[in-house]
Amino acid sequence: MKKYLGAKHFFALTSGHAALVSILTALGIGPGDEVIVPAYTYVATAHAVLQCGAIPVIADINDTLTIDADAAEKKISKYTKAIIPVHMQGMPCDMDAIMGLAKKHNLFVVEDACQGIGGSYKGKKLSTIGDAGAFSFQQAKNITAGEGGAVITNNSKIFERAYIYHDSNGIVFFDDALDSFSEDTFAGSEYRMSELSGAVLGEQLKRLDGIIKDLKSVKGKIADAISDTKITMAPSNDADGDCGTLFPMRFESAELAHKFSDSLPFPSTTLDTMGRHIYTEWDAVINKKGAFHPLMNPYNMEANKSLHTDMTLDECQKTLDILASTVIFSINPDWSEEEIQLRIDGLKKVSEEVL
Ligand SMILES: Cc1ncc(COP(=O)(O)O)c(C=O)c1O
Repeated sequence: MKKYLGAKHFFALTSGHAALVSILTALGIGPGDEVIVPAYTYVATAHAVLQCGAIPVIADINDTLTIDADAAEKKISKYTKAIIPVHMQGMPCDMDAIMGLAKKHNLFVVEDACQGIGGSYKGKKLSTIGDAGAFSFQQAKNITAGEGGAVITNNSKIFERAYIYHDSNGIVFFDDALDSFSEDTFAGSEYRMSELSGAVLGEQLKRLDGIIKDLKSVKGKIADAISDTKITMAPSNDADGDCGTLFPMRFESAELAHKFSDSLPFPSTTLDTMGRHIYTEWDAVINKKGAFHPLMNPYNMEANKSLHTDMTLDECQKTLDILASTVIFSINPDWSEEEIQLRIDGLKKVSEEVL
C-alpha cells in the first residue's frame, strides 16, 4: 500500500471511522477545538470529531459536490484546528484551495478518502496530500475487506500517535512493537485489523487499478455519448483523478432534477435522498447527543462552551439546494456494452422529453 500510494506510513485498522479518530487523536484534537467538515459526507466524519471531544462545524459544498474552500473559510474561528475535506464517491476535493486555506489559518488537513481509494488529485493519490488521510474498506467501497480502514501519513509523529491509539495493547502483545517509536504511549483503543482481513485486502489491492480503469472507461463512454444533449455534468476538481464511481448530473432546479430522475428507465436518484450523508440527518450533531455519557458529551463540556455548537437545519442551505438538483447513478465497472447502451439511450430519450 505504501508503494502504491507513494506514502511514508500506512497501517490498516478496523474501519474508516477508527482511522479518522486515530488521526484526530494523533493530532492532539480534543475539547476546546473545532473541526470543519462538509455538509455532505457520511455521518461518521462528524462522529469521529465528537468522539475526540471536539466540535464538528459544518461547511457548504459547491457544484463539485465536495467542500467549498470559501465557505469553509467563513466557518473558521480562533478555535478551529483542522479541516476534513471528503473525497465523496471518489471525486477529488479542490486540494490546492484547501491546502492554501490550511496554510493561511494554520490548520491540519485530514483527508477523508474513505470513498476515494484509487483516486488522485493533480497526480497525487487521495489521502497523501494533507497531513494524514483515512480509507474505509467497508463493503461498498472501491476495494473491500468486508470491513476495514487505514491511516496514511508522511508525518512520523502522526503515524506513531495514531498507531499507539489504534492498538494501545500492542505494547503488551508484542513487546518490541513500539521500540522504534519516539512518541510516548497513552491509553488508546483496540482497532487492529485482523490478519484475515489483511490477506483479503492484499489481494484486493492487486485489482484496484483495474477496477478504477473500468469505472472510468464506463463513465467516459456514457459521458461522451451524451455530450451533445442538454445534460450538464457536475464539474470535477480533477477529472483525471476521479474514481469514476458516480455519474452526477446538475439541473436548474430540484423540480427538474426529480422529474428527470423519475423518468429514467434505470435506477437513479437525486442526492437529497442520501439520508445520513446529509448534515440535516446527523441527529447527534443537530440535537447535541455527542456521547453515550453526559460528562463525555462534547456539547456539555466546559471547554466547548464558547464554540460553534448550535448547528441549525438551514446551516448549509446551498448544499441542500445542490443535492436536490443533482441526479446520480452509480457506475458498475462490469457493465456489458448492452448495459452501457441502455443508460445512454435512456439519458438521451429523457433529455429530449424533459429538458
Ligand atoms: C465519507 C466517509 N467517511 C467515513 C466513513 C466511515 O467508514 P467505516 O464505515 O469504514 O467506518 C465512510 C464509510 O461509510 C464514509 O463514506
